[in-house]
Amino acid sequence: MFENNMAVFVMPRWSRGLLPYWGRYVAGWDGIFSFALIDKKLEVIQQRVDDEREVEGEYLTYLLSNTQMSMGDVYGSIAELLLAGMDTTSNTLTWILHLLSKHPETQERLYGEVSALVLADRSPSAAEVTGMRYLRAVVKEALRMYPVVPMNARVIAEKDVTVGGYQFAKKTSFAFCHYAISHDEDAFPEPFAFKPERWLRDGRKRPHPFASIPFGFGVRGCVGRRIAELEMYLVLFALVRQFDIKPEPNVGELKSINRTVLIPDRQLNLHFVDRRRGDAA
Ligand code: HEM
Repeated sequence: MFENNMAVFVMPRWSRGLLPYWGRYVAGWDGIFSFALIDKKLEVIQQRVDDEREVEGEYLTYLLSNTQMSMGDVYGSIAELLLAGMDTTSNTLTWILHLLSKHPETQERLYGEVSALVLADRSPSAAEVTGMRYLRAVVKEALRMYPVVPMNARVIAEKDVTVGGYQFAKKTSFAFCHYAISHDEDAFPEPFAFKPERWLRDGRKRPHPFASIPFGFGVRGCVGRRIAELEMYLVLFALVRQFDIKPEPNVGELKSINRTVLIPDRQLNLHFVDRRRGDAA
């Protein structure tokens, strides 16, 4: 679906019946909807209603029981949640693992932090992983270098505004180019270097808080931010604690491309060497 996204944006409407991109785009969405299992879930809920059994408790049930939402709204809401929630964290984790594999000294420092926690057969708590400063800095730096949502936009609807001395009439559309902003040399010296240390609160001058805002900001900022961060901390904690992550020697220079989310331009292969046994997975 993402592959045909650009074509849908730039091509005129009349071309949709003539060129193959539109069919592929619609088929992509159909795949997402069927993957999201909305229709299947609908059948289950309907069955429960027919059997006069209790229907409650789940997000989709909640949406379906909301009389102000059309079926289009429900499909859109579930698909958005799945898209916003999966491609973002999975691609960010891909970038982080790639960066760690290329920077063994960073990985060792991170290993030092995560291996210091005594667990004895239990999982770390949210507070424990969130309290790991270097782990947080690694995620923040990776999102600066590879903001998985590379662009988003806003229309100032209500009134004229002045920003930095420039005046903008109401209804002006603003595009935020997160990738460009977070590679600004003035805010981040050596912007293409992976340096989690920039984010540590250890007395050094830290970057401006708005110089990298991969989750957006304000009332329409990412609603899933805390879930996303926690999920990534937990996955990284488990992986780095158990494995030494090494790059595939022939992978070459990985480039990022914009497919609505920022993805690598080729398949990434990594070697996961079990720290306890020295086996590669
Ligand atoms: C690395 C992970 C993620 C990043 C970098 C990210 C980034 C973003 C950004 C930049 C926006 C647009 C904010 C704006 O327009 O100001 C957004 C919106 C949104 N995100 Fe995330 N996101 C991530 C993970 C997630 C997860 C895990 C979920 C769900 C569990 C989620 C749900 C949403 C939703 C529903 C919106 C739309 C909010 C609205 O329109 O009001 N995101 N995200």
